This record gives sequence, structure tokens and C-alpha cells, in this order.
Amino acid sequence: MGRTDGIEVEGLVRKFRGGVTAVDGVDLRVEPGEVYGFLGPNGAGKSTMVLMLTTLLPPSGGTARVAGYDIVKEGPQVRAMIGAALQEAALDNFLTGRDHLKLQAALHGLPRAERRKRGNELLERVGLSEAADRRVRGYSGGMRRRLDLALALVHRPRTLFLDEPTTGLDPQSRSALWAEVSRLARDDGVTVFLTTQYLEEADVLADRVGIIDRGRIVAEDTPEALKAEIGRPSVEVTPANHRERDAVAKILSRFGQEIPSQPETVSVRLDHGAEGLADVVRALDAEDLKVSNLRLDEPTLDDVFLEKTGRSLEGAGEDPQTEEAQA
Ligand SMILES: Nc1ncnc2c1ncn2[C@@H]1O[C@H](COP(=O)(O)OP(=O)(O)OP(=O)(O)O)[C@@H](O)[C@H]1O
Ligand SMILES: [Mg+2]
Repeated sequence: MGRTDGIEVEGLVRKFRGGVTAVDGVDLRVEPGEVYGFLGPNGAGKSTMVLMLTTLLPPSGGTARVAGYDIVKEGPQVRAMIGAALQEAALDNFLTGRDHLKLQAALHGLPRAERRKRGNELLERVGLSEAADRRVRGYSGGMRRRLDLALALVHRPRTLFLDEPTTGLDPQSRSALWAEVSRLARDDGVTVFLTTQYLEEADVLADRVGIIDRGRIVAEDTPEALKAEIGRPSVEVTPANHRERDAVAKILSRFGQEIPSQPETVSVRLDHGAEGLADVVRALDAEDLKVSNLRLDEPTLDDVFLEKTGRSLEGAGEDPQTEEAQA
């Protein structure tokens, strides 16, 4: 295989003692300059995948190349090419943000004259200039995540791994981080492998999305294509009288298959698309069922997840009770 940027994964497996297969035969390819979103619920195997691709955890089987280098046989070369912001940032509470950047720059062998400049530039970019000389001990969770991203970028990596980069961030920091990731891919041509539990994040940022569930990829494509595969929109109806929910559900079942929704509402995927909506309204009216709200929803990535796994992504984590409730 030639030396290319990007990521190539074949049959990657990671088993843990105690019988958990966290990653269960994953194949994927990330093209140079692409943002790949690895989307899945708690415990799906996202971090395990990132730890293997960043050479921090050996695979139990399969192979992968990152930036053209084998993750098992060429670990040092892989590490030189990549930047990573892991789920649990390893920061030193007693150092300031600026100290961290100086250290990281020295570790990567940046010339002394360049270290300060690069540090300042990155602190500015992640919005930490003002807090730069405070000890990390006093940083909020979101500030830590942003510092960790800055650290991952010090040596201008061609490939970037971000494990749930926006979990715990406020909406403003989240959109700032989204903008920065898009900029890195678009302007600098950085290949980005990003894990997330957020549908919106995958939808906004990723050129392609791999949906992972229980260690396996259950769907992979552009967000648009995945949603188009589902195709038909759904309608969600809230009966005015909650005692009429079952009656409403019975009427709606004529128009498509029921899908999970809030307890007081009924949702169906419309067999005939949005055009069926007028018939739904007429049918409810004919039975004299009053409705307090009626909404048409376009397919989302959550619908894709539901279709592939039979469960909803929101709350489809490891808690078996949640899974039963959603089944
Ligand atoms: N060191 C370990 N030893 C044993 N089991 C592990 C270990 N690390 C992860 N696992 C298990 O492997 C599975 C996948 O975990 P992983 O951390 O990769 O999930 P994740 O998708 O990153 O979840 P989250 O969204 O919660 O971060 C889980 O069942 C987890 O309990
Ligand atoms: Mg994780």
C-alpha cells in the first residue's frame, strides 16, 4: 500500500478480558481531507476504535493504516503524523494553559523561536487567550477540552482524531469548535476522524458518517444519503385528550408504521410521504378526534439508527433497561 494521508481499516477487532468485544470487525476508509463522523451510543466502541487508531491500544485482530503507516508495526511514524484529543484529556492541574502548549511544542521539537508564536496562535484560536496564564486546575470542563484540542494541533498534524470533542461544551463553544474543525479540513486539508453521540454534530460536520452499534458499523454514507435512504417523513400527533391516544394510534396505523415517540404522542412513518398528511387530518376529523399538535418531521440520522438497530440512538447506551423500554 502506498503512503497516503487518510485512514484505511480492515477487519479491526478489540476484545477485552471478561469477554467484551468492544470493536467487532470494522472496515472503513477515510479519504485524505475528509471529515469522518463515527456516531454511536455509549459503549458502542468509539473510544476503543480511536485508541487503536492512535496506537495507544493494540488490536486483537485486523489491520489499519493511518497516514500510510501501519498502526501496529509503525507506531512511532503514526504518532508523528497525527494529533489526538482523547475523551479523557491528560492535563496537569498545576500548569497553566500556556505552559502546556510550550511543553507540547518542545516535545514535538518545534524550534524555540516558533514555540511561543504557535502557542499564542492556538490559544487565540480556541478562545483561551485570556485564561492562558491561569492554572488548568481552575479550568471548566469545556476549557479543558478546548486546551486539549489546541495541544493536538501544535505540530500541524495531517490527521486529527477527536473523541467526543464537544461533550460538555456550552452551545457557543460547541459552534466555535465546529467552525474550527470545518476550517481545518477545508483550509488546511486535515483528515478528521471524529466520534460523537450527537446526531446534529455528525450531520453538520461530517462528510461521511459511520454509525456504530455494539462494535459493528451498521450504516455508512453521507448524512444526506443516509437520510434519503429512509426517505419518507413521519408525522407526530398529540391528542388533545390523552385518553384518546390509543384511538389516534389506531387511525394513524392506517397510514404507516408506528415509531417510538413521547408517551403522550403518536408517531408514524408515512407510507405515502408528506402527501398522506391531508388524509391523516381528514381521518382524525371523521372520528371526531381533537388534536392539540401535529407535526411533520423529515428523516433524521436517529431514524437511520432506529431502522438499522431497532432502537433509538438517544438513550440507546449500555443500560439494558433503556434498551428494553425502547425495543
Ligand atoms: N479497558 C477496558 N476493559 C474492559 N472493557 C472495556 C475497556 N474499555 C472499554 N470497554 C468496554 O468496551 C465497550 C466499548 O467501550 P468504548 O469506551 O469504546 O465505548 P464508547 O463508544 O467510546 O462509549 P462512550 O460514548 O460512553 O464514550 C464497552 O462495553 C466498555 O465497557
Ligand atoms: Mg468513548
